[in-house]
Amino acid sequence: MVPTADPKEDKVYAKPIDQLEAFEFNAKVADVFENMIERSVPGYPLILDIIGLTTEHFAQPNTCCYDLGCSLGASTLKIRQHLPISCLAIGIDNSSDMVERCRANVARDHSQAQIEIRQEDLRITRIENASVVVMNFTLQFLPEGDRDNVLRGISDGLVDGGVFLLCEKIKFDNSNQQALFEDLHLSFKRLMGYSDLEIAQKRAALENVLIPSTITELNERVSRAGFSRTELIVQCLNFVAILAIK
Ligand SMILES: C[S@@+](CC[C@H](N)C(=O)[O-])C[C@H]1O[C@@H](n2cnc3c(N)ncnc32)[C@H](O)[C@@H]1O
Repeated sequence: MVPTADPKEDKVYAKPIDQLEAFEFNAKVADVFENMIERSVPGYPLILDIIGLTTEHFAQPNTCCYDLGCSLGASTLKIRQHLPISCLAIGIDNSSDMVERCRANVARDHSQAQIEIRQEDLRITRIENASVVVMNFTLQFLPEGDRDNVLRGISDGLVDGGVFLLCEKIKFDNSNQQALFEDLHLSFKRLMGYSDLEIAQKRAALENVLIPSTITELNERVSRAGFSRTELIVQCLNFVAILAIK
């Protein structure tokens, strides 16, 4: 029997593309996004678990917990599943293709806390009465000039004792370190079954779309926004999770 192709497998960059366009969170990407992110971000399943346990640890009754850039809802549902019943989980994404599929995923989840998925540019989202805010690999897609304002809005909208979990791809100032981590990440993507053509085309499409920061830049940004303490809680190759406490 000839094996059939899995429609959920990421093949977006598998064939040569003549006119490569800038990466977008469109329908083609949304259809395979779960597979794409799992095979591209080392430690992604672990980070989802960490989002769950951070939520359980810090969510306060009668508050809101936000997931900014929620995509298909993987992180939003982790949040919801670890919330006190009196809390509201709010997922925000500006891609209609993501939001449509996210709402379908949410409909299949039967955990108790209220949840709302909004199609909205997170740069205009007003964060209010929040005890947990998560940005799981989203800040890196915002124009650099908008990032400080977004973090300031998060810090202002958190209640006392509230936390912000920021997960990002990072870069390094030191060129040897940068080369080492890039090489290891390349090996990870090959291990996950991506061909060199797929890796090269996706990298070119992400150029100037995904703009990573160094750990120092992230920590400085978070401190400028008014957080009193930051802790690096996960690093898996060149991907990190930083917990910022108000
Ligand atoms: C890498 S994905 C996030 C993955 C997701 N948090 C998860 O854990 O599976 C980045 C998401 O951010 C969304 N995004 C990018 N810029 C945005 C903006 N300005 N406002 C709202 N969403 C945005 C994209 O549409 C995309 O779905």
